[in-house]
Amino acid sequence: MGKGEYFIASDAVGILKYTRRLYFLEDGELAILSAKSVQLLKLPKGNKKTFKFEKIDWKIESASLGSYPHFLIKEIHEQPQVILNIASLYHKPIAELATRIKKAQGTFFLGCGTASYAALAGTYLFSRIAKRHVNFGIGSEFGYLEDYLTKKSLIVPITQSGETIDVVQPVQKAIKKGVQTAVITNVLGSTLYRACDFKLLLNAGPEKAVISTKAFTAMISILIYTAATLVGKEKEGKKSLEKAAVGIKKLLSPTYKSKIIKLAKNLSKIEHMYVLGRGLSYPAALEFALKMKETSYVHAEGFAGGELKHGVIALVEKGTPVVILAPLDETYEEIISNAQEVSARGGYIIGVSPKPHPVFDEYFNVDDVGDATLILEIVVAQLLAYYTALAKGLKDPDKPRNLAKSVTVK
Ligand code: AGP
Repeated sequence: MGKGEYFIASDAVGILKYTRRLYFLEDGELAILSAKSVQLLKLPKGNKKTFKFEKIDWKIESASLGSYPHFLIKEIHEQPQVILNIASLYHKPIAELATRIKKAQGTFFLGCGTASYAALAGTYLFSRIAKRHVNFGIGSEFGYLEDYLTKKSLIVPITQSGETIDVVQPVQKAIKKGVQTAVITNVLGSTLYRACDFKLLLNAGPEKAVISTKAFTAMISILIYTAATLVGKEKEGKKSLEKAAVGIKKLLSPTYKSKIIKLAKNLSKIEHMYVLGRGLSYPAALEFALKMKETSYVHAEGFAGGELKHGVIALVEKGTPVVILAPLDETYEEIISNAQEVSARGGYIIGVSPKPHPVFDEYFNVDDVGDATLILEIVVAQLLAYYTALAKGLKDPDKPRNLAKSVTVK
C-alpha cells in the first residue's frame, strides 16, 4: 500500500523502493486492487477480510549491487557485519529460542540444501556446547519420519527463503499434530515465518544470489549463540562470533584472495574434487562441496573423514584435489592421518586449518575461533567457488544453471 497507489509483487524486495507497508496474502485469499480501493476476500465464499499491513524496515541499499560485479561476492563481503549484528543485537530472541529448546521433549532442526547442512551442524554444536541432543532432518525426507512427533516435540525449520516447499509441507503436517514450531528464516512474512509459533529472523538483508552464503553463516552464528545461551555461556558465544567476524575480514583481504584466485585457476581445469572433515567439519565438508558444485559446476563431494577407507579412497588418483578441513579440535590428529593416506595415493592436499602441516600441498590459514572456525572454513569455500566460476568464464555466478533461489515446487 503506497500513497494513493497499490502494488503486487512476488517478494517484498520488489516493492521496497515504492512503499514499506506490505500485506502477505494467505493461501485461499483473493485481493482485488484498483487505483481507488482494495478488497480482501476469503475464498471460496468471498467473505470480506481486513488487510493487516506490516511495516518493513529493510534498508533499500542492501538490495542493490553497489560497486560489486556480482551479488555473490557482495554478500560474501557482508558476512562480518551480519555476524556482528547477531552478536550484539540478538540476546532476547536467542534466549527465547534456547528456552523453547530446553522445554521441548525432542527438538528437530530441519532444512534443505545449504540450510540442511546448517541444521546438521546444529546437532554437533548443541552436543559440544550445550551437551544436549537435538535431531536433524532433511526437509524432503522428514515427512516420512514424523510419526514419533508429539505435542511436546519442537520443530525448528531453518530456511533462508521461508518458502522451500520440502520444508513447508512437513512443518504444516506437524502443526496439524499440535507440534511446537520455531522458525529461523531470513524473510519476514514468508510462509514459514507466518506459520510458525516463534520466529527468529536472520536479518542478513536480502540474499539475491541463488548461492546461499551470508544466510548460512548467520544460521550457524545463531545456532552457536543459542547453544551457548542454553547453558548460560552467552558471553563466550558472543565472543566467538566477534572473533569469527574478525577472522572473515582477514580472508577478504586482497592478499588472501589472490591465493584463492591462483588455486581457483587450477581447479577450473579439473572435473572432480573431494572435501574431508570430521566432527563439526563434516557438515562443513558437505557445504564446502555444495558451494563448489552449484557455483562452478565442479563435481565436488564432501565426506566424513572416517568414511575414507570404507570406499572413498578408491576415487583418489595422482593429482586428485582433496580439501582437508583441520580445525584445532579433537578431530585434528585423525583428519591429518586421513590427509596422509590420501597423499600416499597421489592426492593433492589442500589444507584449510589454523596451522600449517607438511602434508598440505597447498595451505589456507584460518583463525582458530573454536566452534566458529566452521564459519571461516565455509567463507574459504565461498571464495574458492566464486573465483573458480569466474576462472571458468561462467556467465553469471549469481544465477547458476538449473537452480532457483527458492524451491517452491516438489
Ligand atoms: C544454496 O546455495 C542453495 N541455493 C540451496 O541449496 C538452498 O540452500 C536450499 O534450496 C534451501 O533454501 P532455503 O534456505 O531458502 O530453504
